[in-house]
Amino acid sequence: MERRSFLKLSAKLGITLAGFLTLPFFVSLKPGGIKEKRIEYFFLASLEEMPRKDVKKFELILEQSTSDQRLKNMNVYIVKTLDGWIALSPVCTHLGCMVNYNRIKKEFICPCHGGRYNTHGEVIVGPPSMPLTRLPLKVEDQSVFVGIKV
Ligand code: FES
Repeated sequence: MERRSFLKLSAKLGITLAGFLTLPFFVSLKPGGIKEKRIEYFFLASLEEMPRKDVKKFELILEQSTSDQRLKNMNVYIVKTLDGWIALSPVCTHLGCMVNYNRIKKEFICPCHGGRYNTHGEVIVGPPSMPLTRLPLKVEDQSVFVGIKV
């Protein structure tokens, strides 16, 4: 094969390969290509079970509440504040380990790399740079519901 033919063939292959590699990106730009997540509320507890002070861990039962196979049961921390309650995801924002609440220190501590958060989910000690994710809460008929993106 001559050098000129080889270069032409290489250029055609390169363009074709680039097309295949960028196709998923352009498909995702098409309207409807990216599916927007919506928030769905799941029962957490009755109002009576909510903490009157400090922090309480709950298991959010998702598997029996929906037919969506992707949703697994998960833990949620409910923190009693002066203004009411906040719900925090236990997923560390560094690399996704599950944080534990330390009642003595009043901190969420990540067992993986020592990240620490205060009771509002704000980072006290890195490596995490982002706060714990707050989950929306709503109260209806003496029941508390937590919002999850589905
Ligand atoms: Fe939590 Fe690294 S995963 S500090």
